[in-house]
Amino acid sequence: SLSTFLKSHNQLSRNIHETCSQFGAAHRWGPGENDTGMNRLALTDADKQVRNWFVKEARALGCEVEVDEMGNIWAIRDGVSDRRPTKDGKRLPPVMMGSHLDTQPRGGRYDGVLGVMAGLEALRALKEQNVKTWRPVGVVCWTNEEGARFPVSMVSSGVWAGEIPLERAHSLKEVSGEGKTMKEELERIGYLGDKKCSFEEMPMAAHFELHIEQGPILEAKGKKVGVVRGSQAYKWFTIEVVGKEAHTGTTPYAQRADALMVANSMIRYARYKGEVQGVLVSVGVYQVFPGSVNTIPGRVKFSLDIRSPSDHTLVSFERRLRRKFDVIAERPGFSGLPCSVTWQEDTNSPAQGFDERCCKAVKESALSVLGAETGDLEQALGLVKYQMVSGAGHDSVNTAKRCPTSMIFVPSKGGLSHHPEEFTSEEDCVRGAQVLLESVLRFDRE
Ligand code: GLV
Ligand code: MN
Ligand code: MN
Ligand code: MN
Repeated sequence: SLSTFLKSHNQLSRNIHETCSQFGAAHRWGPGENDTGMNRLALTDADKQVRNWFVKEARALGCEVEVDEMGNIWAIRDGVSDRRPTKDGKRLPPVMMGSHLDTQPRGGRYDGVLGVMAGLEALRALKEQNVKTWRPVGVVCWTNEEGARFPVSMVSSGVWAGEIPLERAHSLKEVSGEGKTMKEELERIGYLGDKKCSFEEMPMAAHFELHIEQGPILEAKGKKVGVVRGSQAYKWFTIEVVGKEAHTGTTPYAQRADALMVANSMIRYARYKGEVQGVLVSVGVYQVFPGSVNTIPGRVKFSLDIRSPSDHTLVSFERRLRRKFDVIAERPGFSGLPCSVTWQEDTNSPAQGFDERCCKAVKESALSVLGAETGDLEQALGLVKYQMVSGAGHDSVNTAKRCPTSMIFVPSKGGLSHHPEEFTSEEDCVRGAQVLLESVLRFDRE
């Protein structure tokens, strides 16, 4: 049966470890580092290569492939219902399996890639076993999920869901400050498609996403599959502190407006308050201008990532930070002149719940796959975690705003992700892919 098909199938592992890992492989970072690291930022040449490979592979599986104006790639396999056109000539919306192919600048092999490759193998299983689904079924690769190059996370599913205006997304500049926009880079690599990026133009009946957990819970609890019920809230900002450049050897403390010292006070405060209030606070980008040993920094830009399961907690935390940062800029707490501070909101992703019917499909699929594997339903019941809330953002958070959505998590070794040594066993990957395929079939049958 299909549920056991993928098990004997090592194409998934080959795609992850031999094919995809070649596009953007980041070897030899330093002595002692292994070579499983990936550097495939969105819309780079490496991203273009993996996309081209994906498109070829999906076409070979008999899919129709379309690209929208955000570069999202839609590979869709006909369903039986396609042979019976509706009165208005439209096809039924497809059930999609989606994730992303871009990585962190020092990422691993699984984040995003697993969900896409599992989708491909699910399509291969359907084709090889000549299974007809009622609805069309497909795989969607979302552009720049990470937000690591163009600093808005899940930006393309955000445009699709109507949350982010297309113009804003297209004009996003890369975080390195080199100044290329998303639209320019989409054009350059040949993925500025002609389909409108919207739910109306590219509808879906449902979205299922297989992803590594990226955290420690499944492993610690000895569970094999997680049913993801939703995600926590998070917001990203770019914060700019402006002081005044001056000579380090001649300017007394009292006459300095040192943007770096002020920015550091803000960050220390945010981290401290975050810990007290249960909000995760992180700064990952920090830029100092003009960046000279003997010039007092006149300007600092840093990213601020804040997360909480509660929208209310997050909003009140942000309000508190805004007030306190103004105070710090005005009166830094050490001798010196005031600086100014401005906030730009980059990402706003409120807590999101997933669809009950999709979660049920995932849960039943997980039990059936694990039940078949262990031959013991009692044991299978103990291997599933039924209530997971994703700590990370995913494109599913955006699709959930427009169509029934759920996610499947598989364990991450040591809970590690956004690291070259991110690892999920082959067995866990294949099991996740089986659960993904079964979830799609269950949803389609209902
Ligand atoms: C989105 O990918 C995130 O940062 O969680
Ligand atoms: Mn991811
Ligand atoms: Mn990621
Ligand atoms: Mn993510």
